Amino acid sequence: MRLVGILAFVFMATLSLSAQDKELEEKINSLMSELTLEEKVSLCSGRDDWSTQPIERLDIPWIWMADGPHGLRRAPATNKAGYGDQHPATCFPTASALSATWDTDLIYKVGQALGEECQALDVNVLLGPGVNIKRSVLGGRNFEYFSEDPVLSGELGAAYINGVQSQGVGTSLKHFVANNVETMRMFMNSDVDMRTLHEIYLTPFEIAVKKAQPWTVMACYNRVQGEYGTQSPYLLSKILKEEWGFEGIVISDWFAVIDRVAALKAGMHIEMPHVSSVNDEILLKAVQEGELDEAILDNLVKEILMVVLKAKSLDREDVDQKVEEHHQFAREVHGQAITLLKNDENVLPLSKDKYKRIAIIGEFAANPRYQGNGSSEVKPTQLDNVLDIIKNEYGKGVKISYAQGYNLKDDNDFTMIEDAVQLAKESDVALVFAGLPLHYESEGIDRKHIDMPAAHNQLIAEVAKVQNNTVAVLTNGSAVAMPWIEQVPAVLETWLGGQAGAGAVADVLFGTVNPSGKLAETFPVKLADTPAAFNFPGEQGNVLYGERIFVGYRYYDEKLIEPLFPFGHGLSYTSFDYSDIQLSAKKISDKDVLEVSLKVKNTGTVAGKETVQLYVSDLESTLQRPEKELKHFVKVELQPGETKEVSFELSGRDFSYYDAKRNMWIAESGSFEIMAAASSRDIRLKAQIELESTQQVPMMVDKYTFAKELWDNLETRELLKEYMPNWINGWVPEGKTMDEANIPGFFMEHPMIKFPYITNNEITHEQVNELIERCKNITYTPAYRTFKEVENVSF
Ligand code: BGC
Repeated sequence: MRLVGILAFVFMATLSLSAQDKELEEKINSLMSELTLEEKVSLCSGRDDWSTQPIERLDIPWIWMADGPHGLRRAPATNKAGYGDQHPATCFPTASALSATWDTDLIYKVGQALGEECQALDVNVLLGPGVNIKRSVLGGRNFEYFSEDPVLSGELGAAYINGVQSQGVGTSLKHFVANNVETMRMFMNSDVDMRTLHEIYLTPFEIAVKKAQPWTVMACYNRVQGEYGTQSPYLLSKILKEEWGFEGIVISDWFAVIDRVAALKAGMHIEMPHVSSVNDEILLKAVQEGELDEAILDNLVKEILMVVLKAKSLDREDVDQKVEEHHQFAREVHGQAITLLKNDENVLPLSKDKYKRIAIIGEFAANPRYQGNGSSEVKPTQLDNVLDIIKNEYGKGVKISYAQGYNLKDDNDFTMIEDAVQLAKESDVALVFAGLPLHYESEGIDRKHIDMPAAHNQLIAEVAKVQNNTVAVLTNGSAVAMPWIEQVPAVLETWLGGQAGAGAVADVLFGTVNPSGKLAETFPVKLADTPAAFNFPGEQGNVLYGERIFVGYRYYDEKLIEPLFPFGHGLSYTSFDYSDIQLSAKKISDKDVLEVSLKVKNTGTVAGKETVQLYVSDLESTLQRPEKELKHFVKVELQPGETKEVSFELSGRDFSYYDAKRNMWIAESGSFEIMAAASSRDIRLKAQIELESTQQVPMMVDKYTFAKELWDNLETRELLKEYMPNWINGWVPEGKTMDEANIPGFFMEHPMIKFPYITNNEITHEQVNELIERCKNITYTPAYRTFKEVENVSF
């Protein structure tokens, strides 16, 4: 009943919205004719810290924007900074925990709850989600981002946006784009090649924009390929608007604008926050002096008014913040995120028959770390701690004892370890709560290493020496090294679980909730193993994306490095069997949709949830490609013994790479493998298909096109035969045809500009130019073999 009600509300909202959109458009057109130039300029910056500029004379309202993303950080007033004095709101698990759920339906619901809180606290736009890729384990804001994988990040981002926006509240998809380092974040140039930019860093934004149309996109602080994100026409106009069809407005990250005029020309709408009237005067002067076309300003202002008026029209009065309900929901959400990394001998769940004396060790148990540092810091409505929850909810019939173990104020204080070890010795099981203190993970600062404080590591190692049943319960927003991994039988990764996370941790430890989280980021053995180890955080304002497309698991696969725990890994208290992979076809074109289905069975004794991951591998490719790439995933719940069928749809894009020379996605003809997996290193089922591309790709011939490319294409080969027959014939073995010429690889590696030299002027420079002209419109069907190496004979 409730679901039907919600659907009806969304349906009505969508219906009335389009009619409303038309009405708004008319209203905006009439407002435009009344706005003065000064007023239009003023609308392109905030009024203060958190609101847009109103024009009272014309009844143009202002709207309230607030952080985000895992809860609402709403200042007491729009002109107050809102650190420490923010209004209490539900602090949900941070993005790195949310992503470990791999559950788009759940993230949608989190979005709905966040949207409700925004409505209750008069906020019109929530500043999130962040879908930047976790390029390095050291990234200071990794706790605020979803994943190292673009599809996972994009799908979760879209679900979050759709959830929030279903409540009549906007979002801000951030930080657009390639904002992957905090060091020098206001200036750093992300030196990333075009293919990588598209395949890895733009893709999550693309998915979120296309599937969810966020009301706003937040332009980043950093530069991308030399241009500030706030003033890049390529990113803001060409990609975001023209290619993806973004309908909303672009706001700057706070104080990110460098050149106001360039920013507007590029397609950025609002500078946030309000800086000073000087900035408005710069714009005014630019229009008056003809440097900025007023028509550009007008378009931007119209789009701003559309968002502002729409937001205002969806404002709801008397919405309840649902503080209690959301606290319970936050606990439920976190229960789906907690990731069981290791569980030898089924140490977990804690059975009261087996463990009568439970040692709870580590200050985090009493003094929880539950979110990250920086602009996303929420003031929680309440805060649970695991020590009290275990005592109150799970303590009956067992002895619960506590030892602090370490001092959160001093990483190198080892004085409390002895007491903790003593307690562990006298207990049946030791739960050691350890991880990263708050100041280790912060916006604005990157980590320098991936180690937990020395006292935490030593505590785990020492406790494990005296207690076989030691469980490391970790609290951290991103990957950490685990030097004691071989010594402990169980590791539970609890991320940053939000205000109600402690309850979820207890639920998982005691088996009330069966863990189903899976890693959305690879955990490396050591920092030196990581993809960006050589190129992070960059130097002298430049960060080279030297690992290119080989980010996260793509890198570990390519380098044959065994990670500590692979992307997608996460255990359960039950087990799952995969079977019966079926494809709707064995041969497809890039225009077809391929259906993939398979069966998953719960083969254990308790109910559980499994996330099935679908990877695609291009078995033979013209360009270098990752061994496999995640394309889809789904989380299913199964009772003991139950089997469910899951299915996925793969389309042309899922088989494509981005060709940076031609600026297009290309699905080459050839063989592809489809893999259903429980993690990126636990492939359960495989199937193969042949793809026949229908694409026609331009040859793009110029004087630097190489002989091998022209020879491998049958059309251009004919032209080579026409222009340099003697030279080709010189490589034809007795009795063979020109097509069978054994042209040495050495010569194939010559560009057209060199043809007169290698052919002894059989083809002249003029003829090379003529040949280039004749090749100009030639296209071909992309396939591996297009640039086939000829047999390498000596010359
Ligand atoms: C952060 C954004 C945030 C904004 C407003 C910036 O420093 O990068 O993520 O939304 O501040 O607090």
